[in-house]
Amino acid sequence: MDNTNKYLLNYKGHNFVSAVVNDSDFLENIEDFEIRDDDVFIITYPKSGTIWTQQILSLIYSEGHRNGTENLKTIDIVPFFEYNVHKVDFLKRPSPRLFASHLTYNLVPKGLMSKKAKIIYVYRNPKDVLTSYFHFSNMVVIFETMNSIEELLEKFLDGKVVGGLWFDHVRGWYEHRHDFNILFMMYEEMKKDLRSSVLKISSFLEKELSEEDVETIVKQATFENMKYDPRANSDDIIINDLGRETDERHFLRKGTIGDWKCHLTVEQNERFDKVFQRKMRDVPLKFVWDLNEG
Ligand code: A3P
Repeated sequence: MDNTNKYLLNYKGHNFVSAVVNDSDFLENIEDFEIRDDDVFIITYPKSGTIWTQQILSLIYSEGHRNGTENLKTIDIVPFFEYNVHKVDFLKRPSPRLFASHLTYNLVPKGLMSKKAKIIYVYRNPKDVLTSYFHFSNMVVIFETMNSIEELLEKFLDGKVVGGLWFDHVRGWYEHRHDFNILFMMYEEMKKDLRSSVLKISSFLEKELSEEDVETIVKQATFENMKYDPRANSDDIIINDLGRETDERHFLRKGTIGDWKCHLTVEQNERFDKVFQRKMRDVPLKFVWDLNEG
């Protein structure tokens, strides 16, 4: 365990947010954490649509969340596994337990390899991930402030950010997909067709939903709705648990495809492309970089 960096805690090659790893014993015992057959994990590289998928899962599993009779925050229905900021006792949680995590494939509990518990892996084009990370890191106190995109770009391509090297995260999960019961979802596909994405996720989870339920879920999982829904927008987590640098910024920032074009210079983009092509050459996952792409 290496915590020489003020913001990052490196454990077995993965970079954790130093300030919110409140239990190093938990990290050391993650592999042995007992998995139940009906556990569900959302796994993502940071800034790839985690909070969005947490909201979709909350809405699928909780009727009270759908109809507003239950006033639980999304983050408390689908808590973070390795960043258990509200100190939930996972062992006492009723089934099915829902979790969100940024862990790499080699660090998750071994019980997930029995292929009974389910994993939804959401990935997003890494230029938008980088752009989103840039704004987020300058919004929350517990992330290292990035003075420029250039500064972040260098760190991002070097894996010196929360979540480690993006390429390793996505590639690792993709190459080991047969070891797990896993569904790959693409942020951009969710953005383009949220209804089909909700149906795909609910079918993977074997959850039957009425037409009306699907409509409600789609409506409540849109960016516009989540942004103003205090149960879903995580603003309070930022204020109370992560520390907010400025009031004008929000977790739900733009929620779009291709914002990287407003941030990367032509040279930075070319540099990114070169690394992407080299590292992802043999990974046949589809990526969408632009809103107008099919
Ligand atoms: P932007 O910063 O590009 O807006 P994560 O939850 O993994 O940290 O990801 C955060 C990103 O997902 C942010 O991206 C956020 O706006 C976006 N997001 C959250 N909910 C969304 C939604 N309902 N629709 C589209 N994007 C959403």
